[in-house]
Amino acid sequence: MAVTRTFSIIKPDATRRNLTGAVTKMLEEAGLRVVASKRIHMTRDQAEGFYGVHRERPFFNDLCTFMTSGPVVVQVLEGENAVQRNRDIMGATNPANADEGTIRKSYAESIEANSVHGSDSDENAKIEIDFFFSPDEIVG
Ligand code: PPS
Repeated sequence: MAVTRTFSIIKPDATRRNLTGAVTKMLEEAGLRVVASKRIHMTRDQAEGFYGVHRERPFFNDLCTFMTSGPVVVQVLEGENAVQRNRDIMGATNPANADEGTIRKSYAESIEANSVHGSDSDENAKIEIDFFFSPDEIVG
């Protein structure tokens, strides 16, 4: 199977509870390699741009407020079938529906404060990686 990349965010609810290492450990144990990582405080413009596809959704404003409420860790993850592998270890968007052993089942507080983001396709992974990283920041 092809080695590919995906984009991940460790969200403010997780950084606030000092779970950056715990979440990263679960990603690594799932077979993903962190090939880029930085801790940032997203601006409102960045959040609205990143989540622009959801602009018409009722939760858009709350989502952008939450994502700018504290530090996040943006990461590029590499591995076999990275997008799906990451989504499998993340678990369902709503932690109430997430399987045992997933990051969201273990750590998420709510559908909004759900600890991690992961790209949903190879195409979006490339767009999202390019949104936060320049090529020289990614070391495979
Ligand atoms: S959906 O319904 O399948 O399109 O939703 P999804 O793509 O999983 O969600 C898109 C992002 O929006 C967040 N989300 C919410 N935030 C706040 N309130 C509510 N109700 C809500 N529903 C979904 C969800 O966590 C997704 O964030 P990311 O960062 O993309 O994981």
